[in-house]
Amino acid sequence: MTPEPHSLTGRDDPTLSPPPGCPAHGSGPGGLHRLYGPGAENLSALYEQLREEHGPVAPALLHDDVPVWVVLGHAENLHLVRTPSQFCRDSRIWTPLLDGLVKPDHPLMPHIAWEPICSYAEGDEHLRLRGAVNGAISTIDHRGIRRYINRATQRLVNAFCEEGTAELVSQFAEHLPMAVLCEILGMPEEYNDRMVQAARDMLRGTETAIASHAYVMEALQRHTARRRADPQQDFASQLVNHPAKLTDDEVTKHLWVVLMAAYEATANLIANVLRMVVTDPRFRAQLSGGQMTVPEAVEQSLWNEPPFSTVFAYFAKQDTELGGRRIRQGDGLLFGIAPGNVDPRVRPDLSANMQGNRSHLAFGGGPHECPGQEIGRAIADTGVDALLMRLPDIRLDIDEDELSWTESLASRHLVELPVRFEPRPQQDENQKPSITPVPAQRTSWEISTPAPQPAPAPDPAPAAPAQAAATPVSPLPDAAAPPDAPAPEPARPQGAWRRFLLWWRGY
Ligand code: HEM
Repeated sequence: MTPEPHSLTGRDDPTLSPPPGCPAHGSGPGGLHRLYGPGAENLSALYEQLREEHGPVAPALLHDDVPVWVVLGHAENLHLVRTPSQFCRDSRIWTPLLDGLVKPDHPLMPHIAWEPICSYAEGDEHLRLRGAVNGAISTIDHRGIRRYINRATQRLVNAFCEEGTAELVSQFAEHLPMAVLCEILGMPEEYNDRMVQAARDMLRGTETAIASHAYVMEALQRHTARRRADPQQDFASQLVNHPAKLTDDEVTKHLWVVLMAAYEATANLIANVLRMVVTDPRFRAQLSGGQMTVPEAVEQSLWNEPPFSTVFAYFAKQDTELGGRRIRQGDGLLFGIAPGNVDPRVRPDLSANMQGNRSHLAFGGGPHECPGQEIGRAIADTGVDALLMRLPDIRLDIDEDELSWTESLASRHLVELPVRFEPRPQQDENQKPSITPVPAQRTSWEISTPAPQPAPAPDPAPAAPAQAAATPVSPLPDAAAPPDAPAPEPARPQGAWRRFLLWWRGY
């Protein structure tokens, strides 16, 4: 079944809408479910309802009752993104757009409007643009970036460690990726509160979103011009000088794609992992007991709460079939990352640990699969690891049921994550993050200076991962990690395992 074309049956007549509370509420023409408005407040629940009613590929309605297919099955989503002969990301073939059903002010226009960037290109043009992005990503020094992530984390934690409380979404998760991405792009001087604010504004579509968009674009245009005139060793210069010969406009647009897509996704990922760490006793116990590493917690989060819930959209290049449905040429399909990740055919038990299984859809797949996934993972792994090194006792400062989220079709954001911990002094940002002992409390009657404490004993070299950590332990590097030799450690003699850990964390 193809989603009904736009119905003329009085959709604008409010008297024909079912009253709130009616089971048909949230349904539009043809009885199809709306993915917006009343009835769509909880999209995960709506996807499950669609799965039950229609199977792995379901018809539904976008804003203005524009028909779309929602792909819910894991296998069907993989087929969608991996079959470029049948499906592409070029909205210019989308029937509702060609028929004028999608108005220029449609709220999804920022995701729909075609741009000359790799995300929407296909075939040779995709290879040209994507080749330049891949080339620039391949020159990133992973070890140097991990070191930078540690330094940026130190700086952010220093801003609140003496307080004993923090709000980790706005004070940490939304800042760390911007600091690291500005460094990667070669524009560390542009990282500041205004840049973070601008990115937040755009993603939330606030009233100042247009001004914020202009602010970020101007910074990226300036940066492109600077690097065209004077190339350096950074991502932007690699794009400028790539044999694909990108124009200035193409370079700026790709810097934009990388900055914004990577920023939002990585900020979401960090917030989600930190929430998991402070709320889920299983993970907390596993992390501090050494059975679960931070990267494993990150991977579990990528399954349960992918930073992008869906990607709008893929489009059918020809009449075809998906999940038993007849899809017509020009139909739009929502790439369902979140519903695909909880498809009961691949996850019959949602509480089961997905340790070691990276087949989630969080980074997409096929020709458009995210080329920056190892960078996104590195920012989250290293940043969360370093934060827990500094503040191993963080705990949620409100009841878990007081946490709230904002949700759109594209993503779900944790609004705030207030935490509490023992106040601690700042650390030199060039020092590796470590646990600063909390100063001994004077008892109320003590008036003398407390006796000097013995210097903290050096951390014992962990014998095996199970005992390794009051500090979480990072995993073995994968093939993407650079094969640099470990840096010589100037300090006290270290065991080989500890030296490896320090190297992996980027010291
Ligand atoms: C946790 C972090 C990240 C997540 C969850 C994520 C997720 C995604 C997803 C779902 C897509 C679309 C795939 C598709 O259409 O099938 C994508 C595309 C893309 N991502 Fe990421 N991403 C992340 C971080 C990054 C980073 C750090 C970079 C760059 C350094 C990056 C650069 C890109 C680019 C350039 C594309 C477009 C690729 C193309 O169309 O060929 N992403 N990402």
